[in-house]
Amino acid sequence: MRIALFDSGIGGLTVLSHARRVLPSEEFLFFADRDHVPYGTKSVPAVRGYVREAFRFLVEKQGADAVVVACNTATSVAVDEMRRLYEVPIIGMEPAVKKALAQDGERRVLVTATPITINGEKLRRLVSAHDTHHLVDLLALPRLVEFAERREFVSPRVEEYLWNALAPYDLVHYSAVVLGCTHFNYFKDTLRRLLPKAVGFVDGNEGTVEELARRTGLCTMPAGTQMASCRFFESGRPVAGAEPLARIESYLARAARMEEIV
Ligand code: DGL
Repeated sequence: MRIALFDSGIGGLTVLSHARRVLPSEEFLFFADRDHVPYGTKSVPAVRGYVREAFRFLVEKQGADAVVVACNTATSVAVDEMRRLYEVPIIGMEPAVKKALAQDGERRVLVTATPITINGEKLRRLVSAHDTHHLVDLLALPRLVEFAERREFVSPRVEEYLWNALAPYDLVHYSAVVLGCTHFNYFKDTLRRLLPKAVGFVDGNEGTVEELARRTGLCTMPAGTQMASCRFFESGRPVAGAEPLARIESYLARAARMEEIV
């Protein structure tokens, strides 16, 4: 089966890294909208336009049999329209609020995402459906997307940005930080140093791949060394050449390392 994963940028590679290892026999396409990243600080109509373009390319030109929107921001504003336009299974991503609340239910949960996701109607509805004890706080971290896109993962600037953003929260009262943007997974090592040990990470990556398997009737395998093939595109252009492919490989390697951090 030809499965497309789509994100504004390199965040979706954190989902691909997992998907390729648990579905090693499938054929993957990865689309990063490099011309338009970041999405999270742009206008909603602009993002909807970019997502339409990406779907036209992936479904109509590349013949994808299923599309994973590995982007919480695009899911927030455009997935409903895409489901009306296309018949292929479309798997979106939403911040894993329900999972985080189910894990504890007493301590607070800090949901981090881009400004579009944080201010979106979809997240508001998700929180009001599950946060019956008013335990959820929302925090936009748009600069993490910029840092990730320029491969600045561990630096005094990243640390200072996160330190200041987290300062208003008394983190001893929290059980989890929800990584509600796929770009944020790249910063788990820095976040781990800043957060108390009792605060865990919750993201939607594994759940999304399980949902992909369920919707397409595929069977996942325990992650091993075998990996599915993948063709990479940047805003519709095939990625070719040693340097750009090496850059993607370095993101994938970091994504795999970050998956180990809980
Ligand atoms: N990686 C995306 C997400 O999961 C969006 C990042 C951006 O382009 O702002 O929301």
